[in-house]
Amino acid sequence: MSQFGETIAKAYAVNGVALELGRGVLEAAVDPAALVQVPLAMTNRHGLIAGATGTGKTSTLRILAEQLSVAGVPVVAADVKGDLSGLANPGPAGGSAEQRAGELGEPFEPRGFPVEYLSLGGIGPGVPVRATVSDFGPLLLAKILDANETQEQSLSLLFHYADAKGLPLLDLADLRSMLTFLDSPEGRAELKGIGGVSSATVGVLLRSLVQLEDGGGNEFFGEPQLDVADLMRTAPDGRGVISCLELAAVQDKPRLWSTALMWLVAELFETLPEAGDLPKPKLVVFLDEAHLLFTGASKSFVESIVQTVRLIRSKGVGVFFVTQTPKDLHADVLAQLGNRVQHALRAYTPDDAKALKATVSTFPKSKLYDLEELLPQLGIGEAVVTILDERGVPTPVVHTRIRAPQSRMGPADDVPGAATASPLQAKYGARIDAESARELLAARLERPSPLATPPKVEARHREAARARSAGGDGGIGDFLASRQGKRIQREVVRGVFGLLRKAL
Ligand SMILES: Nc1ncnc2c1ncn2[C@@H]1O[C@H](COP(=O)(O)OP(=O)(O)O)[C@@H](O)[C@H]1O
Ligand SMILES: [Mg+2]
Repeated sequence: MSQFGETIAKAYAVNGVALELGRGVLEAAVDPAALVQVPLAMTNRHGLIAGATGTGKTSTLRILAEQLSVAGVPVVAADVKGDLSGLANPGPAGGSAEQRAGELGEPFEPRGFPVEYLSLGGIGPGVPVRATVSDFGPLLLAKILDANETQEQSLSLLFHYADAKGLPLLDLADLRSMLTFLDSPEGRAELKGIGGVSSATVGVLLRSLVQLEDGGGNEFFGEPQLDVADLMRTAPDGRGVISCLELAAVQDKPRLWSTALMWLVAELFETLPEAGDLPKPKLVVFLDEAHLLFTGASKSFVESIVQTVRLIRSKGVGVFFVTQTPKDLHADVLAQLGNRVQHALRAYTPDDAKALKATVSTFPKSKLYDLEELLPQLGIGEAVVTILDERGVPTPVVHTRIRAPQSRMGPADDVPGAATASPLQAKYGARIDAESARELLAARLERPSPLATPPKVEARHREAARARSAGGDGGIGDFLASRQGKRIQREVVRGVFGLLRKAL
């Protein structure tokens, strides 16, 4: 065995279950002895898959998802272009995967995996994923509406009011009524003492709301809301189910889907119990185009991402960010990503050169490689790798030829067909009508041992609402009155991102 092969194999040796990334390369030659792998137990220490377009990021995501599934770990992955859907089908013989297996001295064993296709609110093929406005909370809504800090604060106030009044906000129509109400004389009177919302701010928010309604928000917001337990399934053969969130149909709505993805992660965080360090994670999530999470993000939004990523690890969830360069992510997020797979970077323009230098600075110093020289020269499906070993110590940087995917590196045969046949359709296929949905939402908000509501305020409020609707004050009176039966009995608790804490 070569010195190089021996050194790498030793540095990347794993006693427990491991996911193979590939084999080490030195001076342009693959060394089959230089096995590069990541301990399964370290996949909750998060990761980064970076590189320019076409360099092999999705394939790296694919080989990780495949092996996680085999290890019985469910996976959630954003499928922005639709090519990840091919995870369900075996890869073709004679393609680049077979060639790659040969180069690495490995058998080529094409196979498909248990895949579930999801979509945002049923836009495009996939079981519809929905969330209610109440569950989504003010911070994520502000991000999705591209709100500035003032508008974000107004949304927080709106939620505070709705929570205190026990008013479930189901969809964007509810949000619109609420905004309009708070800008009315009655609404302004209600807000007295807890701060106000300016008419100008409401105006701006209403205008961005129109865009969101037309841009997929009407489909995405509502009931039945996705229960994250449905993402954590295994197939009858014990393999983890890979849930592909099919986003090709909403590719042109990046704020919508990137925020929806963050909601998923936050929802997992709020729902799952503490688990400590497990031999294998409960779930691994891959977030593609992760830079979108940070564009236009407010300070509180970024803080929430940092906090979620830091704490979700001990709930047994690993999060892998996929993006072009590490600098796309906030430094406090990047610092928590223990497993790094950096594909090739371009170095054409002065800006590229700067990004390259910045990227190199995020890697441990290497005795074997000049990373500034190597990164632009990496071949397709090659990467510079450093991960956490079983002791949690970063491994030395190694130029890695990534292993061959077993599934098809392209769209699946029949995504709509598979989605229609999903057992989840019975639960999520059809939107629930607004009346029953509000009951459902109210029930979810309800805490087990409700405190008595402050009767005076409630009665006054009810009276005012009745008076308003009697006086023909259109939508707002109806809005409040229609909720009389569905008031929740206690102020709700909000967690990270202002998300609803679940009632046990
Ligand atoms: N590990 C790999 N083994 C074999 N072929 C690969 C591998 N990685 C990338 N390729 C080839 O390169 C193409 C582009 O890779 P892809 O993962 O789609 O890049 P990206 O997601 O960065 O745009 C793939 O369709 C495939 O042909
Ligand atoms: Mg890709």
